[in-house]
Amino acid sequence: MSLVDFSVFVDSSLITPSFEERVKNNLPFLARVAEGEEKYQDSLGWHTVSEWAGEEWLERYISLADKVRRHDGCLVVVGIGGSNQAARAVYEALEEKCDREIIWAGNTISPHSVDKVLKTLDGKKNIFVNVIAKNFQTLEPGISFRVMRDYLRKIYGAGYKDHIIVTFTEDTYSWRLAEENGYITLPFPQNIGGRFSSLSPISLFPLAVAGLDIRAMARGGEMMEKALKENFSPSNPALRYVTARNLLCEMGKSVELLCYFEPRFFRFAKWWKQLFGESEGKDGKGLLPMDVCYSEDLHSLGQFVQDGKAVVFETFLSIGKKDYSYCLHDDDVADGFSYLDGKDFWDINKAAEKATLAAHSRRFPCHKMEIDSLDEETFGSLFYFFQFSCYISCLINGVNPFDQEGVESYKKDMFRLLGKWK
Ligand code: PA5
Repeated sequence: MSLVDFSVFVDSSLITPSFEERVKNNLPFLARVAEGEEKYQDSLGWHTVSEWAGEEWLERYISLADKVRRHDGCLVVVGIGGSNQAARAVYEALEEKCDREIIWAGNTISPHSVDKVLKTLDGKKNIFVNVIAKNFQTLEPGISFRVMRDYLRKIYGAGYKDHIIVTFTEDTYSWRLAEENGYITLPFPQNIGGRFSSLSPISLFPLAVAGLDIRAMARGGEMMEKALKENFSPSNPALRYVTARNLLCEMGKSVELLCYFEPRFFRFAKWWKQLFGESEGKDGKGLLPMDVCYSEDLHSLGQFVQDGKAVVFETFLSIGKKDYSYCLHDDDVADGFSYLDGKDFWDINKAAEKATLAAHSRRFPCHKMEIDSLDEETFGSLFYFFQFSCYISCLINGVNPFDQEGVESYKKDMFRLLGKWK
């Protein structure tokens, strides 16, 4: 069973004999990615889902999560970028299923946001903090942890450390610091970088605390892993997707818009943007990954997309099964909307999606990926699909998927301004 329908994935206007030829020519990249290259072994901890989301690890995340859940409180996740995006994507999409609250911190330096987090915590009982950092040199989570430590000390005194779970890299300064101070520890996998950490303790532990089914998430990831690694043929959807987007890039497109008519995808799109932006945007290459939440953004960016500079193509992310319903009741006010009397918002939204796809397809290629339903298993599949695709795309473009040297540039200036260096 596939959780994602790829049958109409690549826009039909692109599927020509020369496209099929390209897909075939890219098969060696698929082979390298499916195998996992030796030179990237240090970054491929995500490549086999069971490495960090196998049953033994899941047991460990769940049993630690249960210790937090027993207290019926909330969890503050302190982390930024890859250290919080995937978990937040799932949490915000499935919030109604969660029976514990997660509060997100450490992802901004705005004093207003710090103040807001502290105000949100006021009066809450049983506050736990999960600090997630690969090397604990990142400024935002670093100083936010200090704020949270102070807050916890004021409430819990010396016992504050029992409320702190750190997800740090073993055998590093931060790990020793955690041990010396008696914090509960979880390993940040040494062989996974933040943006590829969706199926590891980075995301799975907080989601288990929230009450979500992380076994289902791992299962979804494994299903996709199997589907992609075992399909060494031109029909491999990851291979077709990256071939299409790279072809479009060559044809002069510079922006891939991830489009969704379901606002529950908002945080997932943020995760997706980081994955492709930070992995591919190197050496003057890469597509700019952006997202639009339709129908709202049809009333802002829709004009540019339909009629502005022809730099955009779109990838639609859509939900197949109706999971919410609200029917518009009849009304005696002549508001001009009676043609929609009794109609379901779900169907109206679907009509808007279909119409947008038709209108935009007349201008540029639109890919469409349909998921069955929005749940943990599907998220596991989506994360794996895009991580795998991104790796192939980077190889095609000849860039290292796993580093992010460009991010260091502003940091040098910032650290100088802040007096870290003379
Ligand atoms: O993908 C990455 O490696 C980065 O985006 C990191 O996740 C991000 O910079 C946060 O780093 P750290 O976990 O070290 O604070």
